[in-house]
Order: sequence, then structure tokens, then C-alpha cells
Amino acid sequence: MLEGLMKKEDQEVSRRDLIKGVGIAAVGAGIVSVGGLGIVSKAQAKGRKFDVKKAGDVAYKQYGKVFCAETVAQGLVEAGGIKGLDPSNVFWGHGGVVGWGTACGSLIGAGMVIGHVVDDKKLAQMVVNDVMAFYAYNTLPIYTPKKAIIAEISSATKAGTPLCHISVGRWMKKENVAFFSGPRKERCGRLSADIAIKTAELLNQVADGKYKPTHPINAKTYQITTQENCSDCHGGNTPDLPG
Ligand code: HEC
Repeated sequence: MLEGLMKKEDQEVSRRDLIKGVGIAAVGAGIVSVGGLGIVSKAQAKGRKFDVKKAGDVAYKQYGKVFCAETVAQGLVEAGGIKGLDPSNVFWGHGGVVGWGTACGSLIGAGMVIGHVVDDKKLAQMVVNDVMAFYAYNTLPIYTPKKAIIAEISSATKAGTPLCHISVGRWMKKENVAFFSGPRKERCGRLSADIAIKTAELLNQVADGKYKPTHPINAKTYQITTQENCSDCHGGNTPDLPG
């Protein structure tokens, strides 16, 4: 399979195809030898990696013209030279899906790109899962532009969840600004950059065959689809699982 890809006109293995190949090597019970893959890896080293810095910079700069989901996808598509994936397909992810405050759109944009480039569905889901955990448990935004595009901001907060509503609400409270305000947009632009950067880093690890999933699957751990901090919503009264 990899040999076939090498014969492409421009002698460049596409990012998608390469990562697909790596996916097989990394998770396919070791059927493809790592040694063989290493040769392809060196030959194509440049074309198939994500430029991590570029992923963040593009995601940050586009924010405001487009929103979280699309800007993260845009950053990753540009940073990875991905062909055949239109970032604007995921425009509707903003505000946790058209303003419903569910999963932060940055995660939806990242997930679309991960699903596009990582062929092995199990592996792709582990990468998405780790991006979700990164989002929930880090104090964001981390990304700090040389010069703020929309507004200066001073706060960073830990969401404890991938939910847009809680995440943005906690930040708005700390910064004491309205949702429809420059500072809030600036925050979401920087946070989008953080998610694009983290995703690019993980996809580079996948490409190198070095990715190790870090976060368990919540539905399996808790026997219900959920974020982990039950008391965030249930207070001291987390209900017992029915059934
Ligand atoms: C984002 C908020 C949120 C989080 C976090 C959350 N829940 Fe819930 N959960 C709810 C709401 C709201 C309901 C619906 C309650 C109702 O209808 O009375 C619910 C319902 C449930 C139910 C159905 C039974 C019932 O009495 O309503 C169970 C069981 C449950 N949650 C368990 C958990 C567990 C376990 C966790 C943590 C692993 C968790 N929840 C985390 C918001 C949340």
C-alpha cells in the first residue's frame, strides 16, 4: 500500500494516505513492520507533518471571520497541507453547535480533521478523546499572540468539561464580560489556536507511530455518556444509574 502511494506523480505521499498507513502500522497489531515504515517516513518527512505553530497561528488569525469549529479546521488543513477537505463544511459548529452550548466547536472542527486524516476509526476516536480531555483539564487560553487582534484579555480558566456553555460561562465570569463582546471573541480565538496546536501535535505523533492514548473512554468508565465531574451539575446528589 505504501509503495503504491510513493508512485504518485509528485512523489509526495499525501498526509491522509501516509497517516492511514501509519495508523495500520501503529494499531494493526504490528502487522506492518516499523522498520519498513521508517524508510517511507524519512523519505516523506516534510510533506506529511503538521506545522504545529502554523496550525495555531492560522486558527487564531481567522477567528472572527469564521468561528471556532471552522477556524480550527482551517488551521489544521493549512498546517497539514490537507487536500480535499473544506473547513467551511463545519461552520455550523460555532457556539457548541449553532449556539446550543454543547461540545465546544473547536473540538468539532478538530474532530472533523482527525476523522479525515486518521483512517483507523478506533485510533481516530482516541485522538479526539485526548483532545477533549486536554480541553477540559487545562487552563485556557494558553496561546498568546504577539499582538491581540480583537481585544486584550487577562483571564484564563479551566472548564472541567468540553461543553461550550460551561467553558465560556466560567471564563466570562472571571473576565467579567458579555458573550457578545470583543474580549470573549478574543478568548475563543486563542482557545481555538490551543486546540489546533494540540491536535496537530497529536496527529504528528500518530504520523510518527509514537502516539499513545492517554485518556480512557468516559462512557465505559462511568457507564453513561458524560463528562467526569458529576457534581458540577448534580451537586452532592449524583443519581444512581438506572438498570
Ligand atoms: C453537564 C451537567 C451534568 C453532568 C456533568 C452530569 N450530569 Fe447526570 N444529569 C444531568 C441532568 C440535567 C440530568 C437530568 C436530571 C433530571 O431529569 O432530573 C442528568 C441525569 C442523570 C441520570 C439519570 C437518572 C436521573 O436521576 O436523572 C444519571 C444516572 C446521571 N445523570 C448520572 C450522572 C453521573 C454518574 C455523572 C458523572 C459521571 C453525571 N450524571 C454528570 C446533568 C449532568
